[in-house]
Parts: sequence; C-alpha cells; structure tokens
Amino acid sequence: MSATSVVGLQWGDEAKGKIVDLLTDEHDVVVRYQGGNNAGHTVVFNGQTYKLSQLPAGVLHPRVVSVIATGVVINPEALLREIDAIGARSSQPIGGNLLISDRAHVIFPYHGLEEAVLEKNRKGDPIGTTMRGIGPCYCDKAGRTHAIRVGDLCRPEYFRRQLTDVVAHKNVILRALDPGFVPLDAERIYKEYLGYAERLRPFIADTTAYLHRALREGKRLLFEGAQGSLLDIDHGTYPFVTSSNSSGCGVHNGSGVSERAITKMIGVVKAYSTRVGGGPFVTELHDEIGQQIRDVGHEYGTVTGRPRRCGWFDGVAAGYGARLSGVDSIVIALLDVLSGLKELKICVAYEIGGEQTTEFPSHVSDLARAVPVYRTLPGWMCDISKVRRYEDFPAATKQYVETVADLVAAPLEIVSVGPDREQTIFCDA
Ligand code: IMP
Repeated sequence: MSATSVVGLQWGDEAKGKIVDLLTDEHDVVVRYQGGNNAGHTVVFNGQTYKLSQLPAGVLHPRVVSVIATGVVINPEALLREIDAIGARSSQPIGGNLLISDRAHVIFPYHGLEEAVLEKNRKGDPIGTTMRGIGPCYCDKAGRTHAIRVGDLCRPEYFRRQLTDVVAHKNVILRALDPGFVPLDAERIYKEYLGYAERLRPFIADTTAYLHRALREGKRLLFEGAQGSLLDIDHGTYPFVTSSNSSGCGVHNGSGVSERAITKMIGVVKAYSTRVGGGPFVTELHDEIGQQIRDVGHEYGTVTGRPRRCGWFDGVAAGYGARLSGVDSIVIALLDVLSGLKELKICVAYEIGGEQTTEFPSHVSDLARAVPVYRTLPGWMCDISKVRRYEDFPAATKQYVETVADLVAAPLEIVSVGPDREQTIFCDA
C-alpha cells in the first residue's frame, strides 16, 4: 500500500503543483480533498504552463485518475470552464480519468454575494478572501439546512425543492445585510445548475468507495493539499484562514481515506514566506528586498492576481506547520528567487511581550505583536537555477537549506530551483 500526501507548510502558494506533478509519475490516483476554486496551481507540463484551480494536477496525465474528493467545495461553472480550457489545449481531453465526489458541496451565486457583504462589514479588518464563495459554502455545509451537494444536483425534484427553500432564505438574509440587494430567482439558478449537472454527470461518483477500492487493489494514491497549513480553519492563524482543513489534518476528513493509510507526508515550504490577504505576518518585508522577492518570484496570485505579501523564511511558523501535518520530509521550493541577496535572514524565534518563544501563538493578537528573532546567513551571488546536484550548490546555499530543514525538523527530500521539471534536485531524505 502506498499513499503519499503533499501539503504546504506556510500560507499556501508553496509551489505544491510542481511537486505533485513530479510525483504523479509514480502514482495511479491524484486526489484533491479540500478547498475549491480559491486555490491555484501552476504546472509546467510538456513545456506548456497550465493554471489549475479545482482540477488536481494529475489531470494532465491521461494514465492517472484524478479525484475531486468529498471535502472540496465545487463551483460547477468554473470547473467546467477549467475542463474545457484544459481539453482545448491538451492532446487528450479530460474524459474517464476524472472523478468528482457526489458528497462534495456546491457553491452557488448567493455564496459569493454573502461573502462580499461579510467582508465589507469587517470594515478595516477584512480577511482578504478570494471572493469565490468558499467560506459561505462551508458555512452552509456545517449548518446543514441550506446545503446542496453534488449528488443532489443529479436528483432534479429534490434539488428544485431544496434550492427553492434555500434561495428564499438567502434572499431574506441578503436583503437584510444589503438594502440594495436584488432578489435571486431560484428557478433561473435551478435551470442553470441542472445544465452544469448534465455535463458533470459522467464524472460524478462515490469517490470514497472508489478510493477504498483503489487502496485494496494496491493502487498508489497521491493527495494534493490546497492552500497551506497556516490557513487551516482549526489550526491556522484564525480568523485569517480559509474554511477547510488545509494542513495535513484535512487528508482524512476530506477524502475518507484513513490517515493510517498515508505512508508518506511531504511538506512543501518556500525558501521565504508569502501570504495573501489579511492577518499578521511576523517576517513581512515592506522594503525593496520584499519587492525584489515579489518580482523575481512572480509573487502574484494565480487565481486573483493579487500581489502577495513577501517576507523572510519564518522557522517558527513553518516548524509549527510541519508538526501539525506530521511531515516525513520537506521540499524547499523557489530557492533560486533568493539568489543575489547579499545577506539572508531566517526567523528562529518570536519575542512576545519580552519573552522569547519558538511556539506558534494560538491567538492572532499575540502573533500580531510578535517580533522576529533573526539569524543572518550569507547569501549567494550567483545563479543557482541550473544546478542539478546538491553537491554543486555554493556553500552558502547549502547552509541556508540545512538551516531551514533544521528549523522545520524534517529531512530534505527535494530542492526546487525553477518551475521546470528539470530544475529539481532530489536529496536523500
Ligand atoms: P478564502 O479561502 O477565499 O475564504 O480566503 C481566506 C484566506 O485564505 C485569504 O487570506 C486568502 O487569501 C487565503 N487563500 C485562499 N486560497 C489561497 C491559496 O490558494 N493560496 C494562498 N492563499 C489562499
């Protein structure tokens, strides 16, 4: 039995897509298990760049089955657009190799409208969400009364009744929150979504049963996390988090596959830190170094295009992410982005209220007042993007990655020095 999981250990955008794509060669099934079209993965495949959002990276490999599992929230319109866009570019359109969970919850137009009003009402302190309706959809899932799942879309009578009730309720709420709100027409949404369901029907399945069967048959599973451990709804920098379990904790509840089946948990970190949206960010750089990292690392959101906030590597935060996810090894990505910086800083502890700690604070206000304690390391003033063997790295680069691995307390498995597959150095984890 072999099941590998790849999770981000920071605030997302750790280049997990490239790693999942690389590991896909050794797996039979790739599984997305949480999040929705808030996620964005950039994958370079056969020399072409693909931007994936809801589709697992495995979908580019016809041999592999891609599963969108139960813990994902699905925007059917956006998903179909993605399927069409990939199909138009790839020699092999998406067909029998995609499965979508009938238990996954569906995003509707009222979710985006609710989110817009809620974010606006937070006034000076927005979460800075991706505005894809992700949070309100997960709210309805937990609330149960106003939720609609993929399987419901395939039962038109049930779906129409449920949607009519939900839209009536949402119209009342949205009118109360925003007096200018124009009520939604349940029948129009019903017809639109029935059309989506028709097109998605060939992919819809009981993915939990499928995954259990796949495990029994000895298929090799690869779980692809979206966002990062510090955006986890339970364990992240709450409330500045996403609405799902985006750390390794989410693999089990999102897929229905027991965590005991996971044979390897790989944590991915960037060589520095980034964060999109609101919330404290202890090592954030507001200077020209931050801007250089943003420009060289193309740190602009795959989904929203928003500039990402950039900062030094935070060993306290990433170490916590690694412990949460229980990683066996780590990948350090985007290392090439730091080339040419004379000195590099790594945060090794926080000072909070005059006390030093290496524990990640549970309350956001403590995180907000944390002052980073830095270790300064020498930079490397050369291009490392063409290095292919670990021993060929400059001494300063080795010192940097070894310090990161030490702080995260996990062996180094891969170092990535660029977006292409070849720009990957495998280490002995
Ligand atoms: P939501 O997931 O749209 O509700 O946004 C909640 C928070 O998670 C915001 O700070 C977003 O910027 C962040 N977020 C959501 N998805 C991603 C992602 O794929 N990468 C990085 N940040 C994300």
